Amino acid sequence: MSARKKVLVTGGAGFVGSHLCDRLMADGFDVLCVDNFYTGNRDNIIDLIDNPHFEMMRHDVTFPLYVEVDEIFNLACPASPIHYQLDPVQTTKTSVHGAINMLGLAKRTGAKILQASTSEVYGDPEVHPQTEDYLGNVNPIGPRGCYDEGKRCAETLFFDYHRQYGTNIRVARIFNTYGPRMHPDDGRVVSNFIVQALRDKPITIYGDGSQTRSFCYVSDLIDGLMALMETSDDVTGPVNLGNPREMTIRELAEQIITMTGSKSELVEKPLPGDDPTQRCPDISRAKSQLGWSPAVALEDGLEKTIGYFKDTL
Ligand SMILES: NC(=O)c1ccc[n+]([C@@H]2O[C@H](COP(=O)([O-])OP(=O)(O)OC[C@H]3O[C@@H](n4cnc5c(N)ncnc54)[C@H](O)[C@@H]3O)[C@@H](O)[C@H]2O)c1
Repeated sequence: MSARKKVLVTGGAGFVGSHLCDRLMADGFDVLCVDNFYTGNRDNIIDLIDNPHFEMMRHDVTFPLYVEVDEIFNLACPASPIHYQLDPVQTTKTSVHGAINMLGLAKRTGAKILQASTSEVYGDPEVHPQTEDYLGNVNPIGPRGCYDEGKRCAETLFFDYHRQYGTNIRVARIFNTYGPRMHPDDGRVVSNFIVQALRDKPITIYGDGSQTRSFCYVSDLIDGLMALMETSDDVTGPVNLGNPREMTIRELAEQIITMTGSKSELVEKPLPGDDPTQRCPDISRAKSQLGWSPAVALEDGLEKTIGYFKDTL
């Protein structure tokens, strides 16, 4: 039997999941990556596939999974509106049935389990910046409900497993994260703008571009997820993980145009339904409980991400 800790990453072939697998492998864990390749990609984990300490399993988390592991990072779920709205029923199932199945696995094996929740649990927030105590403003019947309410229900399940069965849980509320291996066509703002800028195509801004977002580079997020998993068991979260530097969508577009030297122009399109106007994490809890705060400046993160898209497009 291996003395190395065995860690399950669901959604491990996705954008965030594949970076997490890289980090876990570099830190000496045995990694079991589970993914149904709905939005994930084998190329994201290609460098790990032949490593004997890495195992890839094609599996849908809406079905039970019987494996032996010490820790579980539950990331499986399409994260961009384009993808999660393609099959909204499956999106809710992935969040809710996926959480039940992974929590069941954690209960049976005694594994520690971390849920990748989201700032979307705050909906279109009336409190700014968002603290973990804010209960949110989500429209349950809107086009984003399948994702937002699915993630909210998953959080409920995590805390009920914790209270009812003593399951060792952690809940991270992840804010917009960007970096290499984002999908080029998933409509997320950073990848969208970079791809459009590199192709000298018009950059589409929804609304007038005055809505704000904050962007966290993926390596910072991975540091936060690792810190949350490794911290003492009385820290369950929820903990916001994100970069509190807030900017308007228009500012982001202009910065990307400058950095890519693009000839693209900005064009405005109507705002999609339930698009939040402001989004910025209060990360006091992550700072005090995990000693975590993001370290990568937007300019540096964008440079790496632009470099990735230049290579792949
Ligand atoms: N990237 C962000 O900005 C962000 C923000 C908030 C929350 N999150 C959360 O982090 C997690 C990872 O997001 P991401 O940006 O890497 O998205 P992603 O779409 O790149 O990755 C999701 C992965 O889950 C897999 N998956 C989807 N449904 C599945 C199922 N039923 N069974 C097994 N695998 C399944 C996909 O194939 C993909 O590999 C998600 O849970 C997402 O909600 C991400």
